[in-house]
Amino acid sequence: MGELQGDRGEQRHVNHADDDLAEGEGAVAALGDTLFPARDLAHALEQDLAGTAHVLLRLRLAHPVLAAIAAGVVLLGGWKLALDGGPGHRAARAAAALALGQIVVGVVNVALLAPIPLQLAHLLLADLLWIAVVLAGAARLADA
Ligand code: HEM
Repeated sequence: MGELQGDRGEQRHVNHADDDLAEGEGAVAALGDTLFPARDLAHALEQDLAGTAHVLLRLRLAHPVLAAIAAGVVLLGGWKLALDGGPGHRAARAAAALALGQIVVGVVNVALLAPIPLQLAHLLLADLLWIAVVLAGAARLADA
């Protein structure tokens, strides 16, 4: 993570910001799904891309894209920290695994039009991912 950015502290901020952004966007996506339920995936896309689409529907489309990028950054950074075996490497490994799991659950979430149990699983993974990122960052900071 540190060497990717050239500076460990900076990279930690980047990862935290990525994760923050993904979670904020996710809440907007969840609200859009609740207020504008879709019959199927094609209908959902039609709703999102319509010229007259509500702002929540336009933002609903942004979450999967931004979150997948954020998850990719956390996955690569976490994997790198996990491999170097330094402080917080277990938390970093957990963060990488959770980021990967979150992408899979996110894709299934979209495909199944976000059933409640999957929404809860997605939210739980988001919280666990956040905890893992904070623990990995804190361990590195304590060592710096
Ligand atoms: C690190 C990656 C990700 C994080 C941290 C994340 C986080 C979140 C959060 C916090 C919510 C709001 C949950 C709620 O309030 O109920 C959410 C919703 C959602 N996310 Fe993600 N997400 C990630 C990746 C993805 C990906 C890759 C996709 C799709 C390809 C996706 C699809 C969705 C959908 C469809 C919703 C709305 C339904 C729901 O609430 O579960 N997410 N996400």
